[in-house]
Formats: sequence, C-alpha cells, structure tokens
Amino acid sequence: MKRRNFIRSGALSVAALTIAPHSQARERNIPILVCSRGEEWAAKVLQPGWQTWLNKKNMLDAVEAAANVVELDPEDASVGYGGLPNEEGVVELDASVMAGPLHRCGAVAGLRNIKRACSVARLVMERTNHIMLVGDGARRFALAHGFKEEDLLTDKARETWLRWKENLNKDDFWGAPEAQPTGTINVLGVDDRGDVYGITTTSGLAFKIPGRIGDSPIIGAGLYLDNDIGAAGATGRGEEVIRTCGSYLVVEKMKQGLSPQQACEFGCRRILEVNDGKVNFNVKFIAVNKNGEVGSAQLQDRKKSECSFIMHGGLRSIFPAVVK
Ligand code: GLY
Repeated sequence: MKRRNFIRSGALSVAALTIAPHSQARERNIPILVCSRGEEWAAKVLQPGWQTWLNKKNMLDAVEAAANVVELDPEDASVGYGGLPNEEGVVELDASVMAGPLHRCGAVAGLRNIKRACSVARLVMERTNHIMLVGDGARRFALAHGFKEEDLLTDKARETWLRWKENLNKDDFWGAPEAQPTGTINVLGVDDRGDVYGITTTSGLAFKIPGRIGDSPIIGAGLYLDNDIGAAGATGRGEEVIRTCGSYLVVEKMKQGLSPQQACEFGCRRILEVNDGKVNFNVKFIAVNKNGEVGSAQLQDRKKSECSFIMHGGLRSIFPAVVK
C-alpha cells in the first residue's frame, strides 16, 4: 500500500468517509478491519488480515491473522515475541478474543514462552468452556495444542531490560508510568453480515512485577464487543482501563446512541474523571460499530498514534481525538 493512499484526518472527519452505496453491505461500510496502529504498521498488519478475509471469508481468522503479524515480529517491543520483559527479564503475554455471534470470549494472561498469545486465547474460546487461563496452566494448554515452547526475549529486549536495571535507584516507585512503557494492539473486524470480532494482545507493562496482568486479557477492559452494536479496544495504561471497565463503557455508550467517536471520547473523559483530571499516562480507545463507522480518542497527544482500517479494500488512517 503506497503512502499516498493514506488519509490522515482529524477524528471528526471520520463520518465524511462514507462512500456512495452500491449494495447493502457497501452502504454500511462493511466488511471492515480496524487496528490501533497507524501508518507505520497498518499495511503490515491489516493487509495480511484483509487477504485472509478475502481468501476465507472468515473475519475471526482475519482479525487473528492481523494480530499474529505483530505477535511474531521481534522488532515490536510491546506485543508477543520481542516484547519487553517483566522485572526479572521474563516476557509474559496477555491476550483476549471475542466473537460476536453467541458472545463468545477467550483469554490468556501471564503466558510465558509461547509466541501467538491471541491464538491460544482463541483456543480457550473454541475448545473449552472456560474464558481465561493464566500462567503455567495457559502455557501447558498451548503446548497440548501443539504450540512450541520458545524463548521470547530477543537480544534487543534483553539489552533494554538490562539498561533499565542499571538505572534503577532506591527512590524508584514500582509502576511509575513514564518509566514503564506499554504497548498493545487491538484488531477489530465486522464482516459482510455485520458480525463483529475482536482481539487485543500485548506483552503488557514493561518491567512489571511478575504476575501483573493488564487490561488486555480482561473482557470489558482491553476488549469488548456486542454483536448488535459494535466493538471497542483499549491500549495504554491498563490499570486505568480496568478500573473504568473501559471497552465495555465505550460499547455501552454506542448502545445508548453515541457514535464510535463520541463513545471513545466518553471513555477517555471517564478516566480523566477518576483521576481528578490529572494524568501522566496515555490510554487510547478505538471503536467500530456494525455499520463500519470508526472512532478513536486518547488522553495524550502521541504523534504516532493513529488508528487505521481497511474498508472497501482501501487503507485509511485517522488520528485519535485528544481528550483533556
Ligand atoms: N494496555 C496494556 C497493559 O497495560 O498491559
């Protein structure tokens, strides 16, 4: 996908992206595949997902294929293989998946030594009557399903972790947001029937206390969807998303009639409210409704934090509104 094919627009212009209808599906701007990454990543992540959709006409497969790209990329320091480790130098992954029909969910948390956490979460959803597996149980479940045990700590991530350890001092606070980067990816999709799917996957807060679980594997926090309404996902400081039930709130607001854009802004305002308006971290929400309208909002003006989507085969990106 060439750079010029991107549309860089303010969030308010998302509504203007509606394309002249040729069929019922087109009128509703579906199928659509959305991710919480912008220009730098969008083609890399969304194109394989879109190709999977075209080949298989299965939006859950498409969402998973897109998320797997980041999970397998050693250059991405915030998701899957190559993710920054916990304070003991061990990479621990969190992921969740939801499928709109039958409102199915699956999740893994604190998963070690397995590369594609979201695919393990999908197996939890499809092959068990449980919703979340954690730690060693999640790892053994993945091994039983044929996943390989591998070291997820790349040399680059190990060096970053060692530099962090070298610079620790006695006044450090466990969990200072500015010292502990987070990164995550949400991938949301609506198929041509209007069925909604989503995945959130991450290596979580860098240098976290072993066992810390973020919002990504928690249904309603880092991911939520309602097949009658649409889907939402969150990235950024997971603790804040958990304590506001962030993605659930965004989807419920869409249910009450807000657009995806308005609902994402509402989610950010709620986080501001519970923090008395003072935040030194970022949270970003993305949302899509069943008609293929997209919205995004965040707390801080992070330059590279567009969200992007493929609709009618065309790749587009929007910059999230900044809510202060
Ligand atoms: N949002 C990712 C995390 O906090 O773990």
